[in-house]
Amino acid sequence: MALCKRRGFIFQASEIYGGLNGFWDYGPLGAQLKKNLKDAWWNDMVVHPPTGPDGSDVSMVGLDSCIIQNPRVWVASGHVGGFNDPMVDCKESKRRYRADHVQIMTTEGADRAYAFVEGDDAGRDKALKQLGKHARRTLVLADVTVAPLPSLSKDCLATAVGPDAKEPGTLTEPRAFNLMFKTYVGATANEDDVAYLRPETAQGIFVNFKNVLDTSRVKLPFGIAQTGKAFRNEVTPRNFTFRSREFEQMEIEFFCHPNATREWYAYWRDLRVAWWRSMGLLSENMQLREHDQDELAHYAKSGAGTSDIEYRFPFTHPGYGELEGIADRSNFDLTQHREHSKVKLEYFDPEHGERVVPHVIEPSAGADRGVLAILCEAFTPDPTRPSKVYMRFAPRVSPLKAAVYPLVNKDGMPEIAEHLYRELNRRFGFIEYDAKQSIGKRYARMDESGCPFCFTIDGETPGDQAVTVRHRDTQLQERIALDRVSDWLAAELVR
Ligand code: GAP
Repeated sequence: MALCKRRGFIFQASEIYGGLNGFWDYGPLGAQLKKNLKDAWWNDMVVHPPTGPDGSDVSMVGLDSCIIQNPRVWVASGHVGGFNDPMVDCKESKRRYRADHVQIMTTEGADRAYAFVEGDDAGRDKALKQLGKHARRTLVLADVTVAPLPSLSKDCLATAVGPDAKEPGTLTEPRAFNLMFKTYVGATANEDDVAYLRPETAQGIFVNFKNVLDTSRVKLPFGIAQTGKAFRNEVTPRNFTFRSREFEQMEIEFFCHPNATREWYAYWRDLRVAWWRSMGLLSENMQLREHDQDELAHYAKSGAGTSDIEYRFPFTHPGYGELEGIADRSNFDLTQHREHSKVKLEYFDPEHGERVVPHVIEPSAGADRGVLAILCEAFTPDPTRPSKVYMRFAPRVSPLKAAVYPLVNKDGMPEIAEHLYRELNRRFGFIEYDAKQSIGKRYARMDESGCPFCFTIDGETPGDQAVTVRHRDTQLQERIALDRVSDWLAAELVR
């Protein structure tokens, strides 16, 4: 986080006013990194769609739907009625917790229980100590029982001391808390004008299904893709940008014949893993995990399955956090919207004379979590000097592509360097020109910014018309001809 702030990747939103919990802004380098990731997704999924199982290109079109839709969309999708996290409040500390994050510790012989928040080791140790005092013996973890709060009876809850409380019985029973952000449309703005900020981009695709069918020449199977902001009033935003209240998604709804869901599910699951690898997530910190039956979301009830592409972030270690979900949504959404809107949402196959409500395979990725995973993967401290960091971005997503330096500001070096800088910047963009401080300090700045190549014009260049290129990842240096630099860089950036 310190590096992100220092180098201008990510800032706290409204920082000068003390910030706002769950909101983050991207600085100059972060904005470009995120744009490169979203552009790569759009390019690889929509502009040049991947090759399908039969060897031809997958049929894919793009969409850009509104953040605010008719509120009936969210009634039909189930978000207004059911998009809830059960919460508990503490009447003493006035703090609110996600019920499934609160663990209750009990032991035989004590008529009091102690609560702590899952993952908070200090809180767990404090609970152990307090419970020991109450039971009048020294306790170790093997002596106690720990269970999630929602699994406990009312009576047991009444004996529990909250994670930040002193007295027992101050935790409320779990209550549903809707995650939808409300707003009001129009100048009169009363309760009749309530609308919601979308919690996912997916529903904008479902409600435009008929429009896309009627106006483009897509045939089943085909996908509709869109990127954009989504908003969730998360109860416990945390772990930097991982759980934010405003974030960006990259979603595909892939419509196929109900008989073909298994094939397309497996196809998208494997393709999306390979795509994240191509964005530089090459380590074993990325994994694919198939959901167990009891984890399936309300819409994922047909046979093909659901899996998550996960990343082992430093803050989830040794566990993993979700980067993208691939779900078989069956015909849940189209059926819901057909029932609520009374508009037929189906596909007519002229070849077989058949009408079907297509099933949907949904690869749904988070752009912010993608950026966070890429930042974590790239972060490489120098083994001999841990305060020195190399950000090893894959060249395709790297916000800077190269830097050009005159070794010193005299003897014709700045003129050659400026000329080379302009040539490279016209062709690639995102080239740095840096003539300040020692060459070592300039390299260090670029290493932290993740710039993969630095070209230095030195005292020999006017004579031999060659420059030194220094590689970020190996720190190796080689000499190449000045007039070859541009083509050399072009070849390196597509590796
Ligand atoms: N349309 C399906 C859907 O929205 P989801 O698993 O709730 O599914 C998809 O969200 C992706 O959106 C997640 O894998 C994650 O990358 C991202 N995401 C969800 N909630 C987020 C949050 N609060 N902050 C940042 N990213 C989030």
